[in-house]
Amino acid sequence: MNLLKKADHLRARKGKAPVSALTAYDYATARLLDEAGVDLLLVGDSLGMVVLGYPDTTHVTLDHMIHHTSAVARGTQNALVLGDLPINSYPDPETALTNARKLVDAGAQAVKLEGGLRQAEKVRAIVEAGIPVVGHLGMLPQRVKEEGGYKKKGKTEDEIQAILDGAFALQDAGVFAIVLESVLPKASRLLTEKLDVPTIGIGCGNGHCDGEIAVITDVIGSYPWFVPPFATQRADVAGEITKAVKGYLNALNG
Ligand code: KIV
Repeated sequence: MNLLKKADHLRARKGKAPVSALTAYDYATARLLDEAGVDLLLVGDSLGMVVLGYPDTTHVTLDHMIHHTSAVARGTQNALVLGDLPINSYPDPETALTNARKLVDAGAQAVKLEGGLRQAEKVRAIVEAGIPVVGHLGMLPQRVKEEGGYKKKGKTEDEIQAILDGAFALQDAGVFAIVLESVLPKASRLLTEKLDVPTIGIGCGNGHCDGEIAVITDVIGSYPWFVPPFATQRADVAGEITKAVKGYLNALNG
């Protein structure tokens, strides 16, 4: 399969039509989201929390990502399947490429990694091998321990400039889109205006990026124990599960 076709198509949407993206971690959810018409399904390392029960994404391994990427790929016909390279899987360009190929072998059609200037050479190595890459700037969940929590980014001129420098380095290295996480609206708008590739926002406010991405469990309300303040919950799947199981138990117990 030509990996570049879907990525090129999404890149060409810049300034024309918003890119829709959701996370997916399993076959059934991927199939539902794909059939609903979502453009991009991210097998995010957020699966560490919402699927595997870890406190953050720093516990996720490449084997976890391969396992879930292959399930999502089996459920997806049309959307682009984007696999997250987990923490410690891209320490240098050669290892980054080796591990990106493993995600592609599992069914990913592109890979995502976190960070700006430090990652440019790794992005270049993966892109030159024919694998499309998405960047990830702003709040970087794989660095949550160093950061001391989940913080908004783009508060000062220096912070905005650092994100811009990272974004241009990633764009020059060949990414076809950049996820912006928890970047304040003014900085998100500036990045969106200045970049040639689409920005895909999460926690950046509405309408400041070229597209939006959300964690599926936040959208459908299936992980009630933590919902980020910026999330819009559109269903109560956790409540429906509890109701159905209580009905099952009541029927059994009389
Ligand atoms: O892993 C993930 O779900 C992500 C999104 C927050 C963009 O990277």
